[in-house]
Amino acid sequence: MQTPFNLGRYLALAMLALCTATAQAKNEPVAPAVKLANIRILATGGTIAGTGATSTTTVGYAAAKVGVDQLIEAVPVLKQVANITGEQLFQVASENMTDEYWLKLAKRVNTLLAQDDVDGIVITHGTDTLEETAYFLNLVVKSRKPVVLVGAMRPSTAMSADGPFNIYNGVVLAASPEAAGKGVLVCLNDQINAARDVTKASTATLDTFRAPELGLIGYMQNNKPHFYRLSARKHTVDAEFDISNLETLPKVDIVYGYANVTRAPVDALVAAGAKGLIHAGVGDGSLHNAVKPALIEARKQGVIVVRGSRTGNGIVARNGEANDDELDSVVSDTLNPQKARILLMLALIKTHQTSDIQRMFYTY
Ligand code: DGL
Repeated sequence: MQTPFNLGRYLALAMLALCTATAQAKNEPVAPAVKLANIRILATGGTIAGTGATSTTTVGYAAAKVGVDQLIEAVPVLKQVANITGEQLFQVASENMTDEYWLKLAKRVNTLLAQDDVDGIVITHGTDTLEETAYFLNLVVKSRKPVVLVGAMRPSTAMSADGPFNIYNGVVLAASPEAAGKGVLVCLNDQINAARDVTKASTATLDTFRAPELGLIGYMQNNKPHFYRLSARKHTVDAEFDISNLETLPKVDIVYGYANVTRAPVDALVAAGAKGLIHAGVGDGSLHNAVKPALIEARKQGVIVVRGSRTGNGIVARNGEANDDELDSVVSDTLNPQKARILLMLALIKTHQTSDIQRMFYTY
């Protein structure tokens, strides 16, 4: 005989089960809240802080107008992914970047990263010289903690401005343990690039930051980084350069190679006090017959000459298109001219021996 279904008994049992579960839940330790990383946002200017007349103004706007607090306020979700504090280090369109700004930024980054209450840094920056600042920091930051540079190709007032999401991705990346020890990173357009290899490859498109042949190192997707490879070159804590006591950097300039070029730019820059010259040569760093004598004379005056290439990709071969042993010149390896200039500036703080400088170009 079946026991008659007793609704009252069933409800009593259900209530007992619910109360037990609740009691257990109360007794069980609450899962510890996830400790959010402490991320410092250092703002320096650029289009990411730019303002335009209308929501469709993406050229002819004013860069470096919006302050760091406003940049942070434009991304309310940041407080869910990190403990954020912001500093307006300076406010410039990055085409106006200077050695003084670089030294101020690098010293501030190193001071902050030495603090236990700072887990990572995001730097908002104009895109025009972002690759240069990133590479400079890649060579002088003395920490394994993440340093991420972000920018924007549309001003903050534009429809579908890319700045806010680039800031969000930059903070998520800087707060990610897996970003540590990978050198200074550049993060725009959902892509993660290494400071050494990335360059601004287009005047205006959102995907302008690329490493054409060496490639990106990862993606930002679904609120986290996905890494696929790393640069094989030394950086940050493994680099030999120390700027902590510097107020200036050696003067190094770039001369461009092209058909029918003359020696005038070389002579003018040497006369203006250049301590180093990067020759952005055609092809594999070739030297025009009109320019070679000027570079030889510059070397005799103590100027260090680096043979680079205007192509921006590939290895400039030592003793290939010119006899570097005879010229006592250095080759740039795969660094583009603007990054070769940065490495030579830092090298000249330590040495004027071309063999030692060449070692540095094969190391960083
Ligand atoms: N003036 C340029 C700069 O600050 C605008 C380019 C940008 O930031 O995207 O680099």
